Amino acid sequence: MSHYILPHSDPLEDDRLALMSKMLDPHMRFRLSQLGLGEGWRCLEVGAGNGTISQWLADQVGPTGHVTATDIDTAFLGKLARDNLEVRQIDVTKDPLGKDYDLVCARALLHHIPDRLDVVARLAAAVKPGGFILLEEPDFHPVEDTDSPAVRDFWRGFIAWAANCGIDYFIGRRLAPVLSKSGMTDIGVHGETILFQGGSLCARYWTLTFEELREPILASGLITPTLWNETLALFGNAEFWTWQNSFVATSARKPDADGAAA
Ligand SMILES: C[S@@+](CC[C@H](N)C(=O)[O-])C[C@H]1O[C@@H](n2cnc3c(N)ncnc32)[C@H](O)[C@@H]1O
Repeated sequence: MSHYILPHSDPLEDDRLALMSKMLDPHMRFRLSQLGLGEGWRCLEVGAGNGTISQWLADQVGPTGHVTATDIDTAFLGKLARDNLEVRQIDVTKDPLGKDYDLVCARALLHHIPDRLDVVARLAAAVKPGGFILLEEPDFHPVEDTDSPAVRDFWRGFIAWAANCGIDYFIGRRLAPVLSKSGMTDIGVHGETILFQGGSLCARYWTLTFEELREPILASGLITPTLWNETLALFGNAEFWTWQNSFVATSARKPDADGAAA
């Protein structure tokens, strides 16, 4: 099993993923709908987390369609119940993914994976001719653009710590060129950010993320305890507003067997 820094066994992870779903599902659903998602589609989601997107996909594709929800740890996928939804434990870096899907999708997965570009190629290979891929990943370009020097320095330390762990928080901008070179067409890239308020859903999501990672981050010395406390106090203060990272949805279509794009 490859190393993952936010394991499902952490007592905060169930709540953190629930906040993530509330925060990100509307954008992802919209982007999936824009691809023409509909009845009868065969879909694969990798790194499905708590499965809210897979469950929604199952409702969209109906009884003639099928959804395979996968994760390296399926602990939170057991509660999904749809006749057309199958749960499988898959390490996306090495296990067989299946093939000929109408849609392959992933969210907030690739930035954690060291061999992320190899994984993009594996995901693209699982799409059928004429089918689609949609990858939603972060790009942290907005976060340092803040009026608070403390929050700016905190994000700098966090991003540096993450980079030392092999995490790419700027992957959002890197997927389109990779998909283009692999021969995919109709590439669309749409980023979404929000200006969030201290105490909001988004602030609570990030606070839970930081709490899960508190020990190794403080041990790295890249964020001091004073900066940590100052920033988390702002994230709990309803008078404070700052940019969240951008979440970037990159979609593409595999040419039809005869080589034609849509
Ligand atoms: C940040 S969570 C995102 C979950 C979900 N996609 C979402 O956006 O709500 C990343 C997910 O990827 C899974 N994961 C990490 N490494 C993986 C791997 N090598 N293969 C498959 N899943 C993996 C984790 O278990 C976790 O559920």
